[in-house]
Amino acid sequence: MNNSIFRKDGTAQGVAKQRLIETLANTGTRIINDPYADRFVLGASIIKLMGFKFSVWLTKKFAPGFHEHLISRTRFIDDLIKQSANSGSEQYVILGAGYDLRAHRLDLPSSLKIFEVDQLEVQTRKRSKLPKDIANSENVTYVSVDFNHQSLTEQLLAAGFDQNKSTVFTLEGVSQYISKQAVITTIQELAALTQKTNATFFISYVDELLNTNPEACFGKGYPKAAKRAETIKGLSAKVGEPWISFYTADEIEELLSKNGFLITENKTLADLNSLYFTPVGRTLPEDQIFNLEHFVVAKS
Ligand SMILES: C[S@@+](CC[C@H](N)C(=O)[O-])C[C@H]1O[C@@H](n2cnc3c(N)ncnc32)[C@H](O)[C@@H]1O
Repeated sequence: MNNSIFRKDGTAQGVAKQRLIETLANTGTRIINDPYADRFVLGASIIKLMGFKFSVWLTKKFAPGFHEHLISRTRFIDDLIKQSANSGSEQYVILGAGYDLRAHRLDLPSSLKIFEVDQLEVQTRKRSKLPKDIANSENVTYVSVDFNHQSLTEQLLAAGFDQNKSTVFTLEGVSQYISKQAVITTIQELAALTQKTNATFFISYVDELLNTNPEACFGKGYPKAAKRAETIKGLSAKVGEPWISFYTADEIEELLSKNGFLITENKTLADLNSLYFTPVGRTLPEDQIFNLEHFVVAKS
């Protein structure tokens, strides 16, 4: 890790890169828009020169559906946050925020207080790259926490988290990088923090099947599914952030229900393809579907 050019932010950059690529698509066909993503991506100017079509084609060579998986995850959460804010959520806690710019790129009500949680090193780098006059910065509080070693409760309360306000939490693209114990503790902590109010929790998780029966995580006819699964896991390990935790659907359901959460949605790219990509003429064929993670929404 110390020799890596990615100092704890390799995967955060990886996701920002896909958001940058999507932002380069025509406004009529893009699924999300992140005008700040280029600030966080090594080689952003080359990607801009290559443009949307060529960059997506290159990503497809690496793994068909990989780009669309990440972009549908971003859009799914964008929709969830806008909906939650409009129906009265007063706080939004972004767990493992990385280079997520949702706080600034979505048109959110100023009544929504946002807490961005991540490792200090990643947060410091992020803050140094944000424009000084970025929208909605007065509503964002940075909270540095290492989920493996620090208490989320202590840090959030010290940062002004209000236990009486209805809150939405998202753990996007993080559960695979941290221990199961850290995920369990985090869910226990957020359940305790919101005992007096309503809470919504989003978690993405990688299915245990990716190790035991990788073909089950891909659409029918997907080329070299098992090999692709290994490549993606290997790449993440290479930038110093190996995937260490995989879950079954039952495990996630049990963990959430034990802490008073009921699952209201459990989606994958296969489900979101027709919702997001079909209306703009970008339906992914079955043999390019990559259900890398599940997207789960649960309510207390
Ligand atoms: C793949 S990135 C996802 C970032 C962001 N949620 C997104 O989707 O763009 C994983 C994030 O988890 C954070 N992370 C990994 N291990 C962590 C830990 N032990 N404590 C806090 N954050 C951690 C990383 O710093 C990184 O920002």
